[in-house]
Amino acid sequence: MPVTNAKGADTLSAGRRASQDPAIRFVDVEQRFTPPNRPAFNALQEITFDIADSEFCSIVGPSGCGKSTLLNMAAGLLRQTSGEVQALGKRVEAVNTDVGYVTQDSNLLPWMTVEKNIELPLKIRGYAKADRARLVSEWIELVGLEGFETSYPHQLSGGMQKRCAIARTLVYDPEVVLLDEPFGAVDAITRTVLQGVLLDLWSSKRKSVLFVTHDLNEAITLSDKVVVMTRRPGTVKAIVPVDLPRPRDVYEIAEHPRFAELHKELWSLFKSEI
Ligand SMILES: Nc1ncnc2c1ncn2[C@@H]1O[C@H](COP(=O)(O)OP(=O)(O)OP(=O)(O)O)[C@@H](O)[C@H]1O
Ligand SMILES: [Mg+2]
Repeated sequence: MPVTNAKGADTLSAGRRASQDPAIRFVDVEQRFTPPNRPAFNALQEITFDIADSEFCSIVGPSGCGKSTLLNMAAGLLRQTSGEVQALGKRVEAVNTDVGYVTQDSNLLPWMTVEKNIELPLKIRGYAKADRARLVSEWIELVGLEGFETSYPHQLSGGMQKRCAIARTLVYDPEVVLLDEPFGAVDAITRTVLQGVLLDLWSSKRKSVLFVTHDLNEAITLSDKVVVMTRRPGTVKAIVPVDLPRPRDVYEIAEHPRFAELHKELWSLFKSEI
């Protein structure tokens, strides 16, 4: 399977590390699960692809094909059965603190307010109090949660919880960001707004992003390339470079003539897997 990197036209921000090492590399990865009282099965097999430094890569595939499992491996939360997973040139062998991970279920701490949830990773990393306060308030504004600083997660809508989880992950500026369907529970308008926020951030800071979505339009709008997976056992069916110009306006990019062609190509790969 050839691996193609389609870099966008945005420039690297000053001081950003340029690296030859891929942000994440999967090499012939297999994941076998043995659930209690059920036969063992392969969730993933022969998975080989890279996310290049500062690349925006999406994964699409049917439910249960192993997308979250791949992200869990990249985050070092799950050890693959065979093959190798690397992050920033190093083999992932334990919890990977170089990556920020917005999990599918958000994982906010229910006993902490919005601002305390967002502050927590900064506290863990030893940021000074004044820096923590500044960063938390910057991020609350960026994700549009002003006025909800002292709310608890159960007092927020699903979309607001997602925005809080995104702020909590990006606030400490991780080089590599894993996002598992971050906008799935968000209404269509907020979703477009958040796609714009994410794209602006990525353009200015040039993070490496691995982004899981079910939405082909979203994958095309945001990505440099889209990895299409087969149904279980999940394998890489195709890697489609997204050769749309950057910077992209999330409100207008779908009108680009190439957008419809890419959608057609992705849909023809995707539809036989669902
Ligand atoms: N810890 C586990 N033990 C046993 N089976 C598991 C475990 N984690 C995941 N699975 C199974 O592996 C397969 C892949 O799961 P995964 O959550 O990665 O799918 P997914 O592509 O993220 O699906 P969705 O789009 O619904 O989120 C599923 O069949 C799931 O039931
Ligand atoms: Mg999942």
